[in-house]
Amino acid sequence: MAADTFDRAANAARSASAGDPAAGAYAQACEQLNKEPRRWLVTGVAGFIGSHLLETLLKLGQEVRGLDNFMTGHRHNLEQVRASVGEQAWQRFTFIEGDIRDPQACARACGAPAPVQATCSGDGEADAGTDTTAGGGVSSGSLAERGRAGAGGPVAAVDFVLHQAALGSVSRSLEDPLLCHAVNVSGFLNMLAAARDAGVRRFVYAASSATYGDHPALPKVEQHIGAPLSPYALSKYVNELYAQVYARCYAMQTVGLRYFNVFGPRQDPLGAYAAVIPRWIAAMLDNQAVHIHGDGATSRDFCFVHNAVQANILAATGTDPAAVNQVYNVAVNARTSLTQLHAAMQQMLLAARPQHVPLAPHYGEFRAGDVRHSQADIAKAARLLGYVPTHNLAQGLRQTIAWYVEQAERA
Ligand SMILES: NC(=O)c1ccc[n+]([C@@H]2O[C@H](COP(=O)([O-])OP(=O)(O)OC[C@H]3O[C@@H](n4cnc5c(N)ncnc54)[C@H](O)[C@@H]3O)[C@@H](O)[C@H]2O)c1
Repeated sequence: MAADTFDRAANAARSASAGDPAAGAYAQACEQLNKEPRRWLVTGVAGFIGSHLLETLLKLGQEVRGLDNFMTGHRHNLEQVRASVGEQAWQRFTFIEGDIRDPQACARACGAPAPVQATCSGDGEADAGTDTTAGGGVSSGSLAERGRAGAGGPVAAVDFVLHQAALGSVSRSLEDPLLCHAVNVSGFLNMLAAARDAGVRRFVYAASSATYGDHPALPKVEQHIGAPLSPYALSKYVNELYAQVYARCYAMQTVGLRYFNVFGPRQDPLGAYAAVIPRWIAAMLDNQAVHIHGDGATSRDFCFVHNAVQANILAATGTDPAAVNQVYNVAVNARTSLTQLHAAMQQMLLAARPQHVPLAPHYGEFRAGDVRHSQADIAKAARLLGYVPTHNLAQGLRQTIAWYVEQAERA
């Protein structure tokens, strides 16, 4: 990790935590939101990144609606946010259980008029998902009091959409490209259409570094992309194209955030499609050797989830017209090989848990569809959004490992 990246992140974190107004755009955006709360929709709210967006927004005094079908997200993520923010803040959250493949669920989540559908049965409410206040069956919050979508009444349009719901994982998309398309492309289009119909101010969506495909240049600069290497990569690129078309044809404001390997607490360590950091922590805590795909030299720009949250808030609230209808890299501009990551994790786990027994990793086949090296140029996000990552890999990993260790000790 480059020393300058470390210093910059540490300085930003220090000044932000000191409440210094010169801390930059993020501190100012948070302050403004605190003064003038907005209404947000977070799709994929029960997932990893979505639940962190929810937590930060509730802590900033915002009203939040969340949409999720629990395909890969979990109720326990929502319960953890609830425990973290407290009951009072939790009252500002309304949860809608629904699927982005259903245009009616998307419309209700955005607060748009319901789309007319030939296939719609009955009153059109029952099959599109159920609204509950957060966590399922918890007492009503402020949005709910104004009219719950599930009760058939209208809900107010949201100001901002942070669209995170999608099926991640390159491998999953190779196994089921049709499902990937249905959720990541058709579901995305449903959300975009609903956001337009609701007249939302801005639609911020999770794009991906997978869009760089086979382009060899490092670091990755937004305008130079290669051919997609998987259905997942293609689906995320199609998202960007649809967002551009909606901006051009319907004067919508959209911002795409190309996340690079985001990690942090609450990322699912289980299943065949789990991301590398939580999967490895789970293996290490279970005294299992880690399996590395390839020779270990594969490298990534690992991005702590708080940086991704910052990018979302800046993307939604930024006032520079030049910053809108753009895509941005979201990472830290550092590159770490899998072997280096493994060594750093072993060291940190040992520090957090002296009884930990470090094991050498097993190296195996490369995985189909994987990009060999990845590193983000974050100058565009810095220039137009004022994005300054607050956490580098080491800072983020320490917090993440501490969280997983605590979970394991509780279990
Ligand atoms: N985590 C990363 O490193 C990374 C990198 C690049 C892009 N992204 C993108 O960021 C977004 C969030 O990723 P994450 O890591 O939090 O994943 P996640 O799987 O934890 O979260 C995705 C959420 O979307 C929900 N969802 C899936 N299909 C749905 C559907 N049809 N209707 C409603 N909800 C649905 C899931 O239940 C889950 O809660 C995704 O769009 C992903 O493609 C993530």
